[in-house]
Amino acid sequence: MSRPLFWKLCGPLALGTLVLVWVVTFLGSETEQKMSYIAEHHQQTLKQWGKTAERLYRAGDEQALAAWLEELQAHEDTWAAVVRSDVQPLAGSSLSARFHEGFRLGRNVEWKMHLYFPENPIMDVTFSDGHTHFLVTLPQRMRPGQYLHQASFFLKVALPLGVLVLLTLVIYRLLMEPLRQLELATRAFSEGNLGVRVRALLGNRNDELTALAETFDRMAERTGERILTQRQLIADLSHELRTPLTRIDMAVSCVEEGIDTQHFLPRIHRECRLMRSLVEDTLTLAWLENENPRLDQECLDLTDLLDSVLEDVRYEYTDHCFSAEWPAQAEISGSSHRALAQAVENVIRNACHYTPLGGKIRVCLRSYEAGYLLCVDDEGPGVPADQLELIFTPFFRTSRARNDRPDGHGLGLALARRQVEATGGWIRAENLPSGSLRVSLWLPATRAG
Ligand SMILES: Nc1ncnc2c1ncn2[C@@H]1O[C@H](COP(=O)(O)OP(=O)(O)O)[C@@H](O)[C@H]1O
Ligand SMILES: [Mg+2]
Repeated sequence: MSRPLFWKLCGPLALGTLVLVWVVTFLGSETEQKMSYIAEHHQQTLKQWGKTAERLYRAGDEQALAAWLEELQAHEDTWAAVVRSDVQPLAGSSLSARFHEGFRLGRNVEWKMHLYFPENPIMDVTFSDGHTHFLVTLPQRMRPGQYLHQASFFLKVALPLGVLVLLTLVIYRLLMEPLRQLELATRAFSEGNLGVRVRALLGNRNDELTALAETFDRMAERTGERILTQRQLIADLSHELRTPLTRIDMAVSCVEEGIDTQHFLPRIHRECRLMRSLVEDTLTLAWLENENPRLDQECLDLTDLLDSVLEDVRYEYTDHCFSAEWPAQAEISGSSHRALAQAVENVIRNACHYTPLGGKIRVCLRSYEAGYLLCVDDEGPGVPADQLELIFTPFFRTSRARNDRPDGHGLGLALARRQVEATGGWIRAENLPSGSLRVSLWLPATRAG
């Protein structure tokens, strides 16, 4: 299983730590190396002292040399002397105790120095005769490595701390940027901005956090769609309820005034029935859209179902001709009798409604290996080609239907589609060469998946 985010975090961390260790080690040794030499201008001063001592020594003025040495020692708070290679102090110089203990003349001023000597080293400037030396204990102010502690604090504490803070910042940004976008999007969504999406804002990155953003987008897409559908349903329902309510209002007024009570009471009943079925259908539709249920608990025989639906319809539409064709048995499992019966009845009733009196309705069920195809053909006016999909939208009605059949609501096919889909099938409409409508339903024999 790939974990891009793990590698993204691991990269800067591992690399950062390696670079840090390397930089600290490298800078540490570089600094120590650079600090192990006496500064150039101090080297010059020491050499200059050597020259002055040599000048005085050559002039043979031992007293002047001694006085100069005296003054130098007092001024620099150090020890200085002029000696021969055979270690004979000259000009009244005295040799220090350390010199006696193990000294073999001093160190050249250009040599590298050990930084951790407790006491300052003795420097040696050899005269041009090659065997006389000006020796001086390096004055404290010239001792190299004065800033050693500060440098080591910087390298061992400040630098690692800085780098670690920087690394944390990189990792924080890597994690927080998408999370911040998600937070903003969630807030915007909760405030009603249903169109907000996150994935596009995260650019080219591709890891667990972009997967999270994609999931959010899918959730926002579906929830947004549902909310809009529900809003539309409520708006359409209240619009549809207005007409029967007005009619009831008028009828009640007439009844109150005692006008033709016999005529208006059944009318009020009819309007109430209409409103009840409208509300029930809308609620069923809202439930099907919201819950997206799987209606797969029942086994049924489609021939029985068609038989009973057609019996009812034949009874109601006595002026229509019906032709029915189906196999001896058409069993399906993992379905819903109630949902399918309602869907099939809606389709067959539509065919009856839109077929002129005396017209023929043809119901044909064919059996296939995976399921059954039910076709309902009529002899009505059909549906304009660009509206063949729209008729499955809640409350959509063709303008012709609105004129010819004012009592419809445009919910039948929308319900039928969701009911058939909830049992694993599909439904679609097409116009026959004659111009009439064919509605086909595919009903799987068993529910797969
Ligand atoms: N058999 C048909 N012939 C012609 N038009 C149809 C047919 N069935 C459905 N329609 C069109 O599809 C629309 C939606 O159908 P439906 O959802 O059942 O609503 P309703 O029947 O209440 O109008 C109808 O208003 C009508 O315009
Ligand atoms: Mg209908």
